[in-house]
Amino acid sequence: MSERQRGAQTQAPAGKAWFAEARFGMFIHWGLYAIPARGEWVRSHERLSKERYRPYFEEFNPTSYDPKAWAKLGKAAGQKYAVLTAKHHDGFCLFDSALTDYKSTNTPIGKDLVREFVDAFRAEGLKVGLYYSLLDWHHDDYPHYGDLVHPMRDEESFRGKTHDFDRYLDYMHGQVRELLTGYGKIDVMWFDFSYERLRGEAWRATELVRTVRALQPDIVIDNRLGGNIKAETPEEYAGDFASPEQALPPHGVLNEAGKPIPWEACITLNNHWGYNANDKDYKSAKDMVRALVECVSKGGNLLLNVGPDARGVIPEESEDILREIGRWMDKNGASIYGCGRAGLPRPDWGRYTRKGNTLYAHILDKGVGAIHLVGLKGKIRRARRLADGSEVALGHLFAHHYPEDELIWIQTARLPDEIDTVIELELEPGALPEQQ
Ligand code: GLC
Repeated sequence: MSERQRGAQTQAPAGKAWFAEARFGMFIHWGLYAIPARGEWVRSHERLSKERYRPYFEEFNPTSYDPKAWAKLGKAAGQKYAVLTAKHHDGFCLFDSALTDYKSTNTPIGKDLVREFVDAFRAEGLKVGLYYSLLDWHHDDYPHYGDLVHPMRDEESFRGKTHDFDRYLDYMHGQVRELLTGYGKIDVMWFDFSYERLRGEAWRATELVRTVRALQPDIVIDNRLGGNIKAETPEEYAGDFASPEQALPPHGVLNEAGKPIPWEACITLNNHWGYNANDKDYKSAKDMVRALVECVSKGGNLLLNVGPDARGVIPEESEDILREIGRWMDKNGASIYGCGRAGLPRPDWGRYTRKGNTLYAHILDKGVGAIHLVGLKGKIRRARRLADGSEVALGHLFAHHYPEDELIWIQTARLPDEIDTVIELELEPGALPEQQ
């Protein structure tokens, strides 16, 4: 069996290694639904007919769309890649597809928004990914009446209306091909999502994944075509990484044999993916830095979402959070990029991340007294505060009571960085088993 056929790799092939090194990306949910501004599921939740959704297509004119500004913001936050919704469940395309009229080039903005996105993000040195919805509430050949979530699922006038699902699959495969041939190197393909009997070969998934990999050999694919990425021998279409949503799995993601596999948590900053004008329930930058550290400590990535508004602007609250994360990343990024599991139990005071022979102690809760590096006595060559390189004292007056532990002694009552004070610990050679 070839590398490619095995789906999720515990160790990524060379062309995909960037993904685990990057650790932090930007998810962008954007489309017509930014106008009703009640989230990207508005058509389904409110059972809006095509006709009732039509005005948003006719007026879509995000004249403030400035993907260069988005890319600069992502870069300032320390993000290394971005994934944009080229098509969401409503079927509206942000790109100039030859296979539909339902696309941004036919709205007042009149532009291929995917093209501008990929150009702008690449120019800032970020990798580019495209989200593509397997569902399509606009295409007449997608299952409607009786479907689980289609806006017309219980609309009586749709009962008995026929559709040709194979024709939809041709369309869907054709659009994926367009996205992977017309926009240069695409680094991530993010399919969404499988449900009920619509999974795996129902999407002609093997064929689809072969096309994707033939067109973009180094591309990293998510796991939402419906395979079992945790199987010891995953399906060919099972994907390259697991994609837990709105959750950080307690032990990261392990396959059925207990081996860690690549994963990426996607998380919103408020409670919606697509723009919601009334949702001001934002998480704090501090919590998001800690979420990122948690992901890395468990061998995963964090894909943090923004939902630009109908003008094309990322909400100010999101921007502020990203900039604050960026200020922390500027000084502490070395404890994130290329880092992963330490192979040590989670300490009382925070978390560890690790890169080879360097261990990063992320102190989140100073507690009282010295910080115990449990079991690491004699294994630490030196300790420095990562943010400024300043020496951190090893040992403590009462250290002899704890012969197994190394102790570090932060001599101030409060942590120097209340978000996360990172101590860089250089290990003695061979102090820990090789990193997984
Ligand atoms: C869900 C939702 C979707 C969102 C996605 C992000 O599958 O359907 O709206 O894009 O999660 O992970």
